[in-house]
Amino acid sequence: MFLVTGATGGLGQRVVRQLRSRDLPVRAFVQLTSRYGELEQRGAEIFVGDLLQERDIQKACQGVRYVISAHGSNASNRGNAQTLDYRANIDLIDAAKAAGVEHFVFVSVLGSDRGYEDAPVFKAKWAVERYLQSSGLNYTILRPSGFASNLLPLAEQFQRTGIYLLIGDPQARSSIVSTDDLARIVLESATLADAKNQILPVGGAEILERGDIPKIFGRIFEREAIVVNPPLFLLDAVRTGLGFVDSESQKALGTLRTLLANEFFCTPTETERLETLFSFKLETLESFIRRYISR
Ligand SMILES: NC(=O)c1ccc[n+]([C@@H]2O[C@H](COP(=O)([O-])OP(=O)(O)OC[C@H]3O[C@@H](n4cnc5c(N)ncnc54)[C@H](OP(=O)(O)O)[C@@H]3O)[C@@H](O)[C@H]2O)c1
Repeated sequence: MFLVTGATGGLGQRVVRQLRSRDLPVRAFVQLTSRYGELEQRGAEIFVGDLLQERDIQKACQGVRYVISAHGSNASNRGNAQTLDYRANIDLIDAAKAAGVEHFVFVSVLGSDRGYEDAPVFKAKWAVERYLQSSGLNYTILRPSGFASNLLPLAEQFQRTGIYLLIGDPQARSSIVSTDDLARIVLESATLADAKNQILPVGGAEILERGDIPKIFGRIFEREAIVVNPPLFLLDAVRTGLGFVDSESQKALGTLRTLLANEFFCTPTETERLETLFSFKLETLESFIRRYISR
């Protein structure tokens, strides 16, 4: 039995789908308020719980062989980096160990090891990585770059308006990963001998400059891109303002700022290693967007 947390998220739902399409047993950890109908229809066992409750985590781990941690804090959920990205993962590792789990796959983030002080999610991921490594569990730590699925709403907006909002440096590089490729890597990591106790950066097929994204959209939708490119210091002004009314949101914006102010890409050697390890060719961003838009 696989346990997948964040099973209704952009990545988690794809992991569950792929596990079920291989006819593998999966327990999807979902919240009562989550949209989990599709996962149930595909034959996943639904475990309704709250990752902020240690007891729910312990119950969910019973009878589980592989744990895939794919949950995380985002702008719309009630957890923050400390509770959801850090504490819930520590509890999950402890519960997995107590339940005799064989392998733990942790979805971290590219750059978790760079010591970004002002980015709570990066700090939480780094601390969890170290805890997992010393837990005695077999593990795979995956450090993905940005997900291609994040760009689908922007692609739809572009299709309607031709507008693309690009905050910060258009020349900053990233290797956006197909969320479907990542899901495959995540689930195969649980059983692939060569992925055991490895830390793997995960990017897409190519290194893109952020300014390439509106060009790709332009090709797909056959329209000229109107790029709106505010400088990063505008975000800093918003953050400073937020600090007076909502310090939690101000902290969370630190992670976004870190993402916008830095480069996140895998080297060609890292990408080659990944393709060799998992025996498939990674998809380009353009191919990913075309597949979803034509559905
Ligand atoms: N997105 C990226 O570009 C990116 C890049 C690098 C790494 N990552 C990491 O990859 C992982 C997956 O990211 P994602 O974008 O797929 O995540 P996501 O779409 O934001 O989904 C978050 C998931 O966590 C669940 N969740 C939140 N609070 C919960 C709670 N208290 N109890 C139970 N479940 C809870 C959410 O459930 P609901 O559906 O009910 O809200 C949802 O299923 C995360 O660890 C993230 O940090 C993401």
